Amino acid sequence: MKEDFKILAIESSCDETAAAVVADGREVLSNVINSQIDIHKTYGGVVPEIASRKHIENIDPVIRLALDESGVSLEDIDAIAVTYGPGLVGALLVGVAHAKALAFACGKPLIAVNHIEGHISANYTEHKDLEPPFGVLVVSGGHTYIAKVNDYCEYEIVGRTRDDAAGEAFDKVARALGLGYPGGPKIDKLAREGNPEAIVFPRANIADSPMDFSFSGLKSAVLNYLNSCEMQGMEINKADVAASFQKAVVDAITDRAMIMCEESGITKLAIAGGVASNSLLRETLENECGKRNIRYFSPSVIMCTDNAAMIGSAAYYKYLKGETAGYDLNAVPGLGLTGKR
Ligand code: KG4
Ligand code: ZN
Repeated sequence: MKEDFKILAIESSCDETAAAVVADGREVLSNVINSQIDIHKTYGGVVPEIASRKHIENIDPVIRLALDESGVSLEDIDAIAVTYGPGLVGALLVGVAHAKALAFACGKPLIAVNHIEGHISANYTEHKDLEPPFGVLVVSGGHTYIAKVNDYCEYEIVGRTRDDAAGEAFDKVARALGLGYPGGPKIDKLAREGNPEAIVFPRANIADSPMDFSFSGLKSAVLNYLNSCEMQGMEINKADVAASFQKAVVDAITDRAMIMCEESGITKLAIAGGVASNSLLRETLENECGKRNIRYFSPSVIMCTDNAAMIGSAAYYKYLKGETAGYDLNAVPGLGLTGKR
């Protein structure tokens, strides 16, 4: 394997059109993200059809910019990587079709990347000394996993959500509070002015699977609380609701992460995904890891959200394992994180 192996990576699974050039899985030479949030927030959430159309418009200029900013020409790229799932099917297909066309036209290998593995790999780009084995929490808009990374690309799932993802719960509660989309950052900000102990919301436990998460009961409890306040004509303190809800989510995630670390003797814990940029979650995990001598790794806020550098990093380790894709590659919208359980 040559050194300085440069991957052009493409990500279009949801509402960000992104392209990046990454060397040897760790060195980010460029990372261009074109976000559609301003368009979708008018509708209170991502509109799949609009997302696909915007990806089609944006993908070529975003790739050109990523190449320009990296200073690497397309001829000097060694492989093309793309997210093939999970995500919105129309959005994914734009990236997949573009990556296949580029790989075919330039005669470069094609690498198919699972978006969730991408989020985990974001940590490799910013923590050069992070190597498996380690524990990881993937908390995003569509997924919530607690897992062990036993080796590069090898996962052992310890827990997953039974219903809503953590970010989905943030978005739904924010909508009920009239805060707009995306809800996570808005709740994070408002919660700073509220009292996290003001309202006791439930922390769900799944009887036969204590490491699994459930956030839909918590979301319903918040909605019921808001309804009953309204019916009784009580004034709602939105900051207290935001702070109490956020605390319930952070407690559920932190408790399970610490149990996994203690039970499995894990000494390194990383977080990943959009919700990993939540300030209370970051602070709480850092404190709890500190108390137990666990090294804690978190990506910068920009590397927690959807981007293509994380896809380029995951792709490198797939390539090292000989995993390349054919031109029959298709989008898999319902793809999960696979591994032993
Ligand atoms: O990873 P991501 O960009 O997309 C998916 O792969 O799903 O995650 C987006 C999710 C949204 O639900 C958003 O509300 C949430 O991450 N999020 C946050 C914060 N920033 C983004 N949730 C809580 N606190 C935040 N600061
Ligand atoms: Zn994501």
